[in-house]
Amino acid sequence: MIAGEHLFDAKSCIATRGVSLGYGEPAPQDVTGFARATRAQVTAAGRKDLSEEPADYSMKKMENLSAIDLFCGCGGISSGLRRAGLDVIAGLDMWEDALETYANNFRKSLTIKADLAQLSTRAFMREVGLRKGELFLLAGGPPCQGFSKNVPRKNRFLEDPRNLLVNSFLDYAEALRPQVVLMENVAEFKNGFDQAFTEEIENRLGGLGYHVHHAVLTAHEYGVPQRRRRAFFLATKEKITQPFPRATHGDAAAAPSLFPLAPFVTVWNAIGDLPSLKHGESYENKPYRRKAFSEFQTRVRGSNDLIMNHVARKLQATQYARLSSIEPGQGIKNLPHHLRPKGGYSGAYGRLTKEMIAPTITRWVFHPGSGRYGHPVDLRLITMREAARLQGFPDDFVFAGTYIQQAHQIGNAVPPLLVEVITGHLLRQMRS
Ligand SMILES: C[S@@+](CC[C@H](N)C(=O)[O-])C[C@H]1O[C@@H](n2cnc3c(N)ncnc32)[C@H](O)[C@@H]1O
Repeated sequence: MIAGEHLFDAKSCIATRGVSLGYGEPAPQDVTGFARATRAQVTAAGRKDLSEEPADYSMKKMENLSAIDLFCGCGGISSGLRRAGLDVIAGLDMWEDALETYANNFRKSLTIKADLAQLSTRAFMREVGLRKGELFLLAGGPPCQGFSKNVPRKNRFLEDPRNLLVNSFLDYAEALRPQVVLMENVAEFKNGFDQAFTEEIENRLGGLGYHVHHAVLTAHEYGVPQRRRRAFFLATKEKITQPFPRATHGDAAAAPSLFPLAPFVTVWNAIGDLPSLKHGESYENKPYRRKAFSEFQTRVRGSNDLIMNHVARKLQATQYARLSSIEPGQGIKNLPHHLRPKGGYSGAYGRLTKEMIAPTITRWVFHPGSGRYGHPVDLRLITMREAARLQGFPDDFVFAGTYIQQAHQIGNAVPPLLVEVITGHLLRQMRS
């Protein structure tokens, strides 16, 4: 056992205190203890070896590739990076609920609670023990509210302090100078504000000698059972011929192509093996009842054996009446007159079908009025395990917090499966 390892109790530490950096106040005793313990674990995860590499970390040595995830939330990006083989040494965010999940799922990583706008790059690098040029990949998904089309235009403005966090992220890239910078945001980010942010990223990272690429990718074209479009920025020190992967999944009924695609993953192929529930029931911490019947299910199960976060929220009487009065595939406009709410957009109160690709899973996935989140067979909303499946989280990734907190974490996350595909493709390109 490494010194300090026994001190580490992610759950209790993060829930009550976390690692707070950058506010200038002296760290309380227990916080210091937490930081020390996690640092020891980072070393155990291999950072000590990495720091012995020369500063211009050679691509010839592709094992033990380190990554840092800024704005990590519960860890969607980190999960994808880890599944692609990277060693995620630290995640940073200021959202306590999400960090509890992060710490539980990344026990060998440093979980840092801090406001990135306030934390100096120097303090951060000291904390994670990295020098300029030692990190392989810096990832980050800065807040998207300032760009999202779901936010009314009048509330979107260039100088929104949340938008300026993109600049903070670039400061970190500049200070750390990793081999690769990967940034994610909503699709509208790319062209929003007359491409001001895209140009800023190109100029700043380009000025540091990076090759900067960007693309809007659609998650269901990469095996995620969900329609979710997101902008990705990928900056590499090395020149890459094809920075982003080609789509791997497509319409099974489409004309035969030279490059055959796997069929899109449907809702049922994603969640159909999970136990049926009535609303208000749960099935947690118990083994799978059915065998996996799709490649996707086999993949997300991995070697996991217990089902977690499979809780069907108890619905109010009207919510249940609405759900039970419509068929799978139907929604608000099919509700009988007396059950129709005054407002609501077309997807509201909808039920999924088995055959469809799920719509975007948002942080409001816990509420029937906020989207098509009704289960395709049972009369209930999807559980957080099912929402996590639709985001491409592996089943051994467990979410902490209340039902609503879990929904926020899952809906805000970048689909890990998409990140895994992007990163896997990148590593293959760099290795070849
Ligand atoms: C889109 S979410 C990130 C999701 C995450 N990448 C994932 O895949 O799970 C944006 C995150 O930025 C965090 N955030 C917002 N302002 C921040 C700040 N000033 N400092 C650190 N984190 C911040 C939010 O708490 C939120 O978790």
